[in-house]
Order: sequence, then structure tokens, then C-alpha cells
Amino acid sequence: MARVAIVAGLRTPFVKAGSAFQDLTALDLGRIVVQELVQRSEVDPEEIDQLVFGQVIPTLTATSIAREVVLTAGLPRKVEAHTVARACATSIQAMIAAANAIALGQAHVAIAGGTESMSDPPIFSSRPLAHALVQASRARNLPEKLKPFQKLSPKDLLPVPPAIAEYTTGLSMGESAEKMAKENGITRAEQDEIALKSHQHAAKAWREKWFDQEVMHVPVPPRFEATVSRDNIVREDTSLEALGQLKPAFDRKYGTVTAGNASPLTDGAAALLLMSEERAKALGYTPLGFLRSHAFAATDPADQLLQGPAYAAPIALDRAKLTLKDIDLIDMHEAFAAQVASNVQAFESRSFAEKLGRSQPLGVVDRARLNTTGGSIAIGHPFAATGARMVHQVLREMARRNAATALLTVCAQGGLGAAVVLERT
Ligand SMILES: CC(C)(COP(=O)(O)OP(=O)(O)OC[C@H]1O[C@@H](n2cnc3c(N)ncnc32)[C@H](O)[C@@H]1OP(=O)(O)O)[C@@H](O)C(=O)NCCC(=O)NCCS
Repeated sequence: MARVAIVAGLRTPFVKAGSAFQDLTALDLGRIVVQELVQRSEVDPEEIDQLVFGQVIPTLTATSIAREVVLTAGLPRKVEAHTVARACATSIQAMIAAANAIALGQAHVAIAGGTESMSDPPIFSSRPLAHALVQASRARNLPEKLKPFQKLSPKDLLPVPPAIAEYTTGLSMGESAEKMAKENGITRAEQDEIALKSHQHAAKAWREKWFDQEVMHVPVPPRFEATVSRDNIVREDTSLEALGQLKPAFDRKYGTVTAGNASPLTDGAAALLLMSEERAKALGYTPLGFLRSHAFAATDPADQLLQGPAYAAPIALDRAKLTLKDIDLIDMHEAFAAQVASNVQAFESRSFAEKLGRSQPLGVVDRARLNTTGGSIAIGHPFAATGARMVHQVLREMARRNAATALLTVCAQGGLGAAVVLERT
């Protein structure tokens, strides 16, 4: 098996849905980030074997988004591509698919990533309207074409947005986070503290210019008058007091999850350049780090929907032959502060370990080594781009701290969890 190196990474700024990127599609964002990654890394496009990309809320006019990214980015037509989806762990899945191909010697150089535009979600028509349109398309004359529409009521004409809800339980992600907060006894104060840290760490990363290496500037088409050069969700000035004043968003009466301690709906894209260690060496690259192990796991979505990381992390660590004590940095995707606190609690819990059939809990999470450059609450969460953002961000942080290992986790719809162990040398 070839060892897989992460050679470079890049993301667009992450911006609130309906703001700076509102006129761009997910494909635009994916194309832009891949073009610039290729230019910045100076990889010869002819060397690229494969591109794996994902999108969680699909663009219905470009469902094979990976291949469309190849074609619109001007990469050689021979670069084969496929699209993956694993909800919020989509670009982790993209990275693993490309890494597996590299490990097996089926590819030597690959791009993996994800893109999301929550400003441009597909808006559906109701089932009765869709049926009427299909029937009308088969009709042979005008009266026959009009007939199916006569049965429609005004409410059938209302557009239907995609739900950010669990299909089997009907609960929204936010409601599921509320459920976790209540069942695990996670207080509002603890959630707001996690949110505050997320903003403070991300603001520091921008202040110190660390993100300048990770985030490209995007001149916004079609006029190219404005250039977006920074995330617009990070709040340098937020405080526990300001966070404490926000009203619960999903359970107005007894809830603790607010706009301040949840990840917001976000637009953005991120990509990674992967190579076999051997090819990276031959092409003269010094890798940012290497993929040591990974695991995907799942739990019942009706139980604790966003607890997947606590199931996946022990498996990834076992596969890496490491324990939590050996890990220098932990980067946990912040869908909600309540989910981060719940997963940290599970890492440390004896009863959770017993539930997994393990003799010991994973271990105590050193908060000083958790999400040290900010997470999805402050930076934003363009679903399919988050995993690739995290991989690159943590690898750069590892270099600054001279750290050897990192554990990344992502929770995802359907009760899925992803965990990745990275090593720097
Ligand atoms: C929680 C959610 C409903 C909030 O949406 P929203 O109401 O549009 O959020 P806004 O950004 O407008 O914030 C609401 C208010 O909180 C304030 N606010 C948000 N974060 C803040 C912070 N860190 N500090 C201070 N104020 C803050 C905003 O300024 C705004 O105030 P205003 O009403 O006076 O303008 C939305 O972000 C959401 O659905 N998130 C979850 C996404 C999700 O499910 N992800 C899946 C994860 S798996």
C-alpha cells in the first residue's frame, strides 16, 4: 500500500448564505478553488489522475459535480472524476476515496474536496404540481395540456425548499442538537463558552495571518468589482454576554441552542491535493502531512444523531495503533456546541465506553488542544467543504506547533461519524 501524502490545500472564504457569494453556484465555487489550488501548488495538470468532489445539497443541473469541476476548471479531459456524498463528512469521504485509490496504486496524484452553496439550494415543486407538469408534457393539444392543472389547489403552487432534517425522525439538525443537550445535561453556558472559543480562535488565526495561506481571494463574477478575501461569520468582538442574550432557535421555551452556538448556513468550497509519498518526492514536494488512519461509523439517528464521532474515533485510533494520549491536536467539527460537548463527554465517559464494548473510555480531552484555530461555529459550515477545510487547517496548525499527530472528527446526518488520524512526518 502506498502512503498517502496531503501536499496542499485551499479554500474559498466561507461566507454566510445569502451574502457575498449569493450569485455564485456551488459549481462556480468548486471550480474557482480547484483552479487556484492547481495554480498555487504548481502541480502540472497532466500529472493529475483523479478528482473526487462532493456536494451535500445537490445542484440538480450539475449532479455529477466532480466531473463538472474538472471540465469547467479547464483540467485535462482525461482527469477522471466521481462525485461523493456523506452529508457533513462529504469531503472527508472525497479525501478517503482518493486516498484509497492512491494507496492501491490506481492513482498517484488526486484532488479531493467539496463545495456547497446554501444561497442556491434546489427549490422543489409540490408532488401534485410535478405530476401535473409530467402529465402536461405528454399531452397532445392545449386543452389536454391545461387539464392536469385544473385539479391543483393554490398551496400546490408553493415552492418546497430542501429540509435540513433527518429523513427518518423528521427532526431538524437543530432539534437533534437540543435533544443531545438535554439528554447529556449540556448547559447553555458550556455551549456559549465553546462558541466564544471558536470565534476567538478563528479571529486570532486571521489576525496572525495564518489563514492567509489557507484561504484564497475570490473576485466575484460576473462584474468582478468586489473581492471576497475573508470569512464573514467570524466575530472578533463576540462575548459571553452577547451570546447569552440570544434566544433559543429550535426550542423557544426550554431550549439552549441559539444562532450563536450553532454553525450557520454557509457558502464555500475547499480542496486538497493528495499524492503518494513516492510521487510527492519525485515531483519535489514536501507534504504538509500524511493520512495515518480513518474510520466511519454510525449510530441510530433516533438516539443521539450527532454522536457519530464518539463511535468513529476509537476505531480510527485503534487502526492508527495510537491512543488519545498520543494525539497532539484534536479538531472536532462544530455542527453545534451541544454536539461538541456531547462528543467530548462521550470520549471521557466510562458508561459510553461500556456501550461500545471497550474496557476504558477514550480519554480526557485537553481543551487547550481542541479546535485551536476555530471551528464551524465561527468559520461557517458549507456542508461538503468542511472536512477538507479541517484537514488543511489542522495540518498547518500542526506545523506551527511542531505537533506530530492530529485526530479529526466530523458528525453527519443519518447518525454517521467520521474520524481521521493525520501525522506530519
Ligand atoms: C441557528 C439558525 C436557525 C440561525 O439562523 P439565523 O436566525 O438566520 O441567524 P442569524 O445569523 O441571523 O443570527 C440571529 C441573531 O443572532 C446574532 N448572533 C449570531 N451569532 C452571534 C454571536 N456569535 N454573537 C452575537 N450575536 C450573534 C445575529 O447578529 C442575529 O442578531 P439580529 O437578529 O439582531 O440580527 C441557523 O444558523 C441554522 O439553521 N443553523 C443550523 C445549521 C445546521 O443545521 N447545520 C447542520 C449541522 S450538521
